[in-house]
Amino acid sequence: MTTADAVPVGGEFLDMQAAVGISKHTGGMEATEELLKLCHVETAQEVLNVGCGIGVASAHIARKYGCHVVGVDMSDKMIAWSQRRAREAGVETLVECRVANVLDLPFAADRFDVVFCESVLIFVEDKARAIGECVRVAKPGGYVGLSEAFWTQLPPPELLAQVKTAIGPATPPFTAWQALWEASGLQERVIRTYQTDPRTEMSDRIHWIGWRWLVRAWGRALRLYVTNPAGRKAIKETFEVPPGIMQYLGYGLFAGRK
Ligand SMILES: C[S@@+](CC[C@H](N)C(=O)[O-])C[C@H]1O[C@@H](n2cnc3c(N)ncnc32)[C@H](O)[C@@H]1O
Repeated sequence: MTTADAVPVGGEFLDMQAAVGISKHTGGMEATEELLKLCHVETAQEVLNVGCGIGVASAHIARKYGCHVVGVDMSDKMIAWSQRRAREAGVETLVECRVANVLDLPFAADRFDVVFCESVLIFVEDKARAIGECVRVAKPGGYVGLSEAFWTQLPPPELLAQVKTAIGPATPPFTAWQALWEASGLQERVIRTYQTDPRTEMSDRIHWIGWRWLVRAWGRALRLYVTNPAGRKAIKETFEVPPGIMQYLGYGLFAGRK
């Protein structure tokens, strides 16, 4: 049975991504590198990637910094892709992947040098609790980082409705992320905001996932589209959102020291 066959796609954006083997966040690899720098990853021995998706950042960190990376995601399909990604990158001995919910991380307090989370909390209702869990499992003196999207300018209502249909949760305003970060209890808090650029959306995505992986994922998407009605609906809804939506979107990098 292939991955596409095995996944009961419920028409949901994340189910579809997990079936196809794609995950991403606003800002791509450039945003990841910037966030990791703000979290001083170069001095870390153990890093937790929360909501790791297909594990691009986990494999990247293990390869570049040689540290131990634990990637968690609530989707077992994403965890399977993460394991594959680490294997293909030759870092499977450095990357550990396990199914877990950010709201209840299965780790002792004060363990990780860096805990980071990219484009995950937008899908989580109790964001304060999720941040609290990330802070709990970070070492005193360690860093916690978040990368999350917000509207820099509200899109027209019909475009907003299309995004909601395709992706699901509402994007909180920047001030909501800012308030959550201020309440995190972290010290030396840094917030950097960026505007996304529709012109670099595709090249950012290719740079993030890599050509080889992306071509195989497109093949799986095509198969899902042809064979699975719920998958077809989810793919269509995603493609119907015009790339111009990026002109309304920004993202914030939030870092702080425990
Ligand atoms: C948009 S993807 C981003 C994945 C990855 N961080 C990246 O940048 O490629 C969001 C991920 O968050 C995961 N996720 C959503 N809610 C979660 C939760 N409560 N706990 C853990 N992971 C969650 C999803 O399964 C998905 O893999």
